[in-house]
Amino acid sequence: MLRRYSDRGLTMTSDNSIESTMHESRTFDPPESDGNEPWHCSSLEQYRALYRRSIDDPAGFWAEAAGELHWFKPWDKVLSYSPPDARWFAGGTTNLCYNCVDRHVEQGFGDQIGIIWEGEPIGSDGPEVRTLSYAELQQHTARFANVLRKHGVKKGDVVTLYMGMVPELAIAVLACARIGAVHSVIFGGFSSRAIADRVHDASSRIIVTCDGAWRRGKVVPLKDNVDEAIKMLDEVRVDSVIVCKRCENTVQWDATRDHWWNEQMESVDTDCPCEPIEAEDMSFLLYTSGSTGKPKGIIHTTGGYMVYTATTAKYVFNLIPDQNQVFWCTADIGWITGHSYILYGIMPNRVPTLMYEGAPNHPGPDRFWDIVERHKVTQFYTAPTAIRAFMKWGDEHPKKHDLSSLRVLGTVGEPINPEAWMWYHTNIGKEQCPIVDTYWQTETGGHMITPLPGATPTKPGSCTLPFFGIDAAIVDINGIEAGPNEGGLLVIRKPWPGMLRGIFGDRERFIETYWSTVKVDGEPVYTAGDGARRDEDGYFWIMGRIDDVINVSGHRLGTMEVESALVSHSAVVEAAVVGMPHEIKGTGIAAFCTLASGVGADNALRSQLCEHVASEIGAIAKPDVIRFTDALPKTRSGKIMRRLLRSIAAGETEVKQDTSTLEDFSVVAKLQGADES
Ligand code: WT7
Repeated sequence: MLRRYSDRGLTMTSDNSIESTMHESRTFDPPESDGNEPWHCSSLEQYRALYRRSIDDPAGFWAEAAGELHWFKPWDKVLSYSPPDARWFAGGTTNLCYNCVDRHVEQGFGDQIGIIWEGEPIGSDGPEVRTLSYAELQQHTARFANVLRKHGVKKGDVVTLYMGMVPELAIAVLACARIGAVHSVIFGGFSSRAIADRVHDASSRIIVTCDGAWRRGKVVPLKDNVDEAIKMLDEVRVDSVIVCKRCENTVQWDATRDHWWNEQMESVDTDCPCEPIEAEDMSFLLYTSGSTGKPKGIIHTTGGYMVYTATTAKYVFNLIPDQNQVFWCTADIGWITGHSYILYGIMPNRVPTLMYEGAPNHPGPDRFWDIVERHKVTQFYTAPTAIRAFMKWGDEHPKKHDLSSLRVLGTVGEPINPEAWMWYHTNIGKEQCPIVDTYWQTETGGHMITPLPGATPTKPGSCTLPFFGIDAAIVDINGIEAGPNEGGLLVIRKPWPGMLRGIFGDRERFIETYWSTVKVDGEPVYTAGDGARRDEDGYFWIMGRIDDVINVSGHRLGTMEVESALVSHSAVVEAAVVGMPHEIKGTGIAAFCTLASGVGADNALRSQLCEHVASEIGAIAKPDVIRFTDALPKTRSGKIMRRLLRSIAAGETEVKQDTSTLEDFSVVAKLQGADES
């Protein structure tokens, strides 16, 4: 039986503090070092010594890490910090694409494989597989960089990428980095509205897309979505759309604006050296949900992000070149996990990175294990929601395959329930592979709290200890550190190289969201937005978001985003959206709606509203449950009582929380009585 997310024992008490009741006592020691592939960090003592050094002398520690990468010009100063603004490696110039690709060619490894790609469809002679050597990647990225230049893209310009998981997406990302263009990748599951909002916010004048993307045997019409998005824009003019052919589906064509990828690639040459980029120049924007309706463009820069992702990838996944390692992260490049741990963190370590195009259960529920077996994957990185789906599909699927190549297993995106952890450990790792439960965020660029596979004893459900340089703490609203097992706010008290540098075009929101919640010793500190506790061994246990952000299948959504999508439908007058426990997704979406008079509250309307939300945001935002109600429970000052709705959505029948400020108690009674039909 699967246990529910609520079993983590996260309870918000009536005074808004966080209590935790979950205790997990099982501990798993890291395996011994293997002669060929020694652990980069092989004992808890070694971890502690390195961690101490990284905190006592961050400049020395990070300079050493940066020294493992290529710089055109060394930095003048490792760090300057005046909260919330940090500058890392200022004065230095480097290039992300050079470190991922060209450097390996220069060092004589041009023939080694940088990217292994597998398509979703399986033909009579198996799936389509493409391998790209560093030399090939150098040529393709140089050519595509020249294509971008031909379309007027200059350093600092924002290039929107809305593509499926095809090699051309990796090439486009790296090509941007080659010339210092800023990429803004939009996950292919997002709607035209979401594309339009992001293109508008970033004033991006060029979009790279595909005719379609394969997903569970069907074609997602990416180019059509882009066409629709462009129609919605009135202030920003998109001059060029470059279209990569993948699914051969019919697309509309505007000859003044649209260009085929292949034809463009043939029209330019392969000569395009990597530009030296200032360490603090923007490398990319990535939009993520927050507690207001509008997604925010998280800004990452170049030098610090590069050093941080490459260093975390090296230690957390134990990457070592020339050892036949194959690293596979199952995320989409449209999320930060794909940016950092399919491309930017992995490639500088000269270990091939695997990209898979499609769904985990296409054509059958063993697709992932088939890929692991055929490509001899050594490090596998996925999300708890996927693990819970595998559990449900049954143990027989992984059993059909030889998974003995696996060395390290990773998880990311949401808290993992101990049952899913144990299943992963037993059925995939065969009790031999350490599990790294990596806690981090779009904003942090890379892993923040995570085990190191050869050093950290693990406990199912805990992301364990902070990475080097990360001064993580749990504090109360006054900045006072919590005692053992006391819940509180997760904060990071010192800057780290991979941290976000801002929200695009919104300095105020940047400060308000991350730097205004608490002060420690009078200084603003980074507030992650998660509740957590530390146990008696100092291990961190993430208890979940404390703001109006929910984590659905490891994908972040703002409840307000879903609410505004709902009220933009003419039938809905008011909507309140909360998270609810969900067996597979971790958190599902429950929507409470009041309707315009005369509108019939029926299932037909429910499906209409789901489709409406999908077209406003994307299919991931579709509510799991929609409840129609005459009124929403509100305080006397008119605030919707979300905590109450959360417990109603979780199926609690008794009102456990303090409702003394509730305006109209009968609303709650009705909601609790109402079944879902
Ligand atoms: C939020 C960030 C960064 C990768 C993907 C998600 C939750 C992430 C864990 C973990 C518990 C986790 C947090 C965080 N989260 N990893 N290992 N254990 N919670 O990125 O979309 O920026 O979401 O995901 O709530 O704040 P994201």
